[in-house]
Amino acid sequence: MAKTYTFSMIKPDAVESGYIGLILDKITSSGFKIIAMKFTQLSSREAEKFYDIHKTKPFFGELIKFMTRGPIVAMILEKDNAVDDFRTLIGSTNPEQAKEGTIRKLFASSVGENAIHGSDSDENAKTESFFHFSGREIF
Ligand code: RTP
Ligand code: MG
Repeated sequence: MAKTYTFSMIKPDAVESGYIGLILDKITSSGFKIIAMKFTQLSSREAEKFYDIHKTKPFFGELIKFMTRGPIVAMILEKDNAVDDFRTLIGSTNPEQAKEGTIRKLFASSVGENAIHGSDSDENAKTESFFHFSGREIF
């Protein structure tokens, strides 16, 4: 099977709630291999750049405030069909609509504070991965 990749962040709400370990367990036990990982905090500038596609949305200010308020866990994950399988594993943006057993259903509290990010295309997975990691941090 072809190796494919996705980029993920455990967001500040889930870090604050102490869910890093439980979320990583869900990810690795679902067949994803962690090939890069760091515990870090986004500056406003970095968050604005990362979420540039949402800059005209009404929730943009709230999103930047949320994503910069505490540390996140950034990672690159490898699996066949990584982008789609990971979006399935995390569930809908709004945890109320997320399926049972998904990461957002289990650990997210609202549409804004939804515990985890997953890339939405192979192209964005690549851009987002290199936004956060240099070549020597990817294994
Ligand atoms: P993500 O990019 O974080 O994986 O989430 P997503 O694809 O499921 O959702 P997206 O539409 O890309 O939205 C990015 C993030 O913005 C926040 N959001 N808040 N208050 C709101 O109505 C609202 N809508 C979106 C969420 O943190 C969402 O994950
Ligand atoms: Mg998105």
